Amino acid sequence: MVASAAEPESHPALPRHVAVIMDGNGRWARRRALPRQAGHRAGIKPVRMTVEQCARRGVETLTLFAFSSENWRRPREEVSGLMSLFLDALEREIAELDGNGIRVRFIGDLDKLGTPLRHAVRAAELRTRANTRMTLVVAVAYGGRWDILQAARNLAADAAAGRVDPADIDEKLFANSLATAGLPSVDLLIRTGGEKRISNFLLWDIAYSEVCFSDLLWPDFDEAELTVAFDFYAKRQRRFGRTGEQIEAVRC
Ligand code: FPP
Repeated sequence: MVASAAEPESHPALPRHVAVIMDGNGRWARRRALPRQAGHRAGIKPVRMTVEQCARRGVETLTLFAFSSENWRRPREEVSGLMSLFLDALEREIAELDGNGIRVRFIGDLDKLGTPLRHAVRAAELRTRANTRMTLVVAVAYGGRWDILQAARNLAADAAAGRVDPADIDEKLFANSLATAGLPSVDLLIRTGGEKRISNFLLWDIAYSEVCFSDLLWPDFDEAELTVAFDFYAKRQRRFGRTGEQIEAVRC
């Protein structure tokens, strides 16, 4: 699935953390008069391609939005079809991911998952925890607001118990209370499917992300379109609140 661990290609302005909102499976299926589940199944191929390409290009962290907190509202058959697909894909791919040095991590309200998927998730995280080539983060039952809320709740409990002084709660401590603790901020956010919105994905972590919208439906997302996103990123001047002149002065 991914190239051998020895060959990350250099890139002049490579994002450390790429995050992807994989949208458009349903429309892809509808256009072919297929059930929505066929669109989700077709979404596996671009997932493999994206993992492989990001690892090859030397991306440190790739986060995929597989299932949102709000996706529980979908028809019961679609939800159970997606959960089976995640379990099958995880069981099928884990050996190859591990063999290629990929660390797998899941974020989200994982207690809401069924027991077999929860166990598979835990086993995958344990099996790959020492891998260092790239971290693949799969967001399932995840919402940006959920994450901020659970961080706030945990910090409030720590403060009430005297473990944390509220005056010490700064960006670093808050970030370390999120499900994404320890991950770099997102540099490049890609959304497929033509919609230009964030849909409650990584809200805290995308504060300074470059955002690339693709009109392709997720099952059609290919290496050429991923390269478009990387090229778009490489051309951006990232200012983090500073002026363009200040950034240029540092470069010279
Ligand atoms: C959004 O498209 C897609 C999802 C909710 C599911 C994403 C799942 C996959 C790509 C399957 C493989 C994933 C992994 C991590 C193994 P949509 O259904 O909202 O499409 P629509 O907007 O066209 O209806």
